[in-house]
Amino acid sequence: MSQDEPEAGATVDSGRGEPLLSVRDLKTHFVKGGKLFGRGGESVVKAVDGVSFDVWPGEVFGLVGESGSGKSTLGRSILKLVEPTSGEVRYDGRDLMPLREREMRPLRRELGLIFQDPNASMNPAMTIGQGVGHPLWIHEMVSTRAEARKKVIEMLERVGLHPAESFLDRYPEDLSGGQKQRLVIARTLITEPKFVVADEPVAALDMSVRARVLELMLELQRDFNLTYLFITHDLATARFLCDQIGILYLGEFVEQGPSDLLFDDPKHPYTRSLLSAIPLPDTRRRDRVKTLPRGEIPDASRPPAGCRFHPRCPDAFNVCGWQGQDLIDAIEERWTTVDQDTADRELDLLGKPGSAEIATTSARFPASAPEEVAEWLRSVGPELPANVFSAVTDVEVEDRGVTVRFGPGPEPGVQQVAGRNVACHLHGVVVRPDGVHVGDPKELADE
Ligand SMILES: Nc1ncnc2c1ncn2[C@@H]1O[C@H](COP(=O)(O)OP(=O)(O)OP(=O)(O)O)[C@@H](O)[C@H]1O
Ligand code: SF4
Ligand SMILES: [Mg+2]
Repeated sequence: MSQDEPEAGATVDSGRGEPLLSVRDLKTHFVKGGKLFGRGGESVVKAVDGVSFDVWPGEVFGLVGESGSGKSTLGRSILKLVEPTSGEVRYDGRDLMPLREREMRPLRRELGLIFQDPNASMNPAMTIGQGVGHPLWIHEMVSTRAEARKKVIEMLERVGLHPAESFLDRYPEDLSGGQKQRLVIARTLITEPKFVVADEPVAALDMSVRARVLELMLELQRDFNLTYLFITHDLATARFLCDQIGILYLGEFVEQGPSDLLFDDPKHPYTRSLLSAIPLPDTRRRDRVKTLPRGEIPDASRPPAGCRFHPRCPDAFNVCGWQGQDLIDAIEERWTTVDQDTADRELDLLGKPGSAEIATTSARFPASAPEEVAEWLRSVGPELPANVFSAVTDVEVEDRGVTVRFGPGPEPGVQQVAGRNVACHLHGVVVRPDGVHVGDPKELADE
């Protein structure tokens, strides 16, 4: 780890002057349910939970993550199409956070958004000429219809819809998926934006046309000196397009930095897993081991304690945040791998998984023969899938049961490792400033 630490969480300085966009500790939380008749049951989805990064002019910054990781919410929060809960968004030196929609309006011309679904982005009742020209009138960039028509024709040609005149009086529904997405790009770029959020712009398209639309986007980016925030769940696409990449997991960046560094030498276990899942023509990687993350991305309203990735992490160790539920899950997973007799015997001894009393830092197994249960846990525990037993601090035999306790699991803070930001205790236990901080991190790491 570098000792001359730059500002925590900021993008590693590229020495290219001022960034066009600076995001600091951005949070967007949604309150779900619980409001009916004033009853409880409210839950908070921390869709974006403390994200910091910079994007320089002319750069493509890739936001990568599985479904539900918070990519769209982050993109929309930056454009203030979703109201962020806290943090800072500076665009071209201006703090966007305090601006109301009325004050944002003049900036909207410079801030574009391309959606995943071209069908939902174009008004089906407008002709192509009207639809693409519409933003010109909204932003008062033209004063005559002839002027608008000229600009629309130029832009349609530029995105590869030619001869443009033949498209003007047609409707979006007359076009193929790839043509429609070109149309959406034309409508976004006609106001000459500087910064464009492209939210999975090719995901809804056939494979055969994806590459061509991506190439067009790159060409336009160079020609118009655009800066993109490019959202994708696909690392291969990100590699093709992006200068910088931020890997999002449950609303947090787990690794973020120059795209080459992340691809050549990923430092976070989640990045490694995602990379191992994509086919690359790179011979060095042909024989790599696939270490796909176990299971699904958890419910964002109940993220795992400690490191949010810990239940799926192949490298998790004692301080990563193990919980009672993880032990139950690991025992159940074991029962799918051992022979039926062993599984039946262990089920008789421990009882059904549903009978255990589960808490954040403990799991209690009601048992008539607690000594036997404790003995089983002590001998089989270390062999359980995942690394859950490494965090066990105590197996306590009680009168009519056994309680297993876990050590504290602080949430990893962002640290600079080999030219990028990483949030993972493998690189030294660093605790997130607002994370659970129980005990001295150094002691935790030494345990
Ligand atoms: N308006 C909202 N109200 C409540 N929860 C929301 C809202 N918008 C998004 N969420 C939740 O926030 C989390 C992040 O959602 P988001 O759409 O940003 O993820 P994503 O990474 O873009 O996923 P996808 O790849 O499926 O588009 C999810 O758990 C989602 O259910
Ligand atoms: S802190 Fe690192 S090692 Fe621990 S669970 Fe998270 S990603 Fe895995
Ligand atoms: Mg999305």
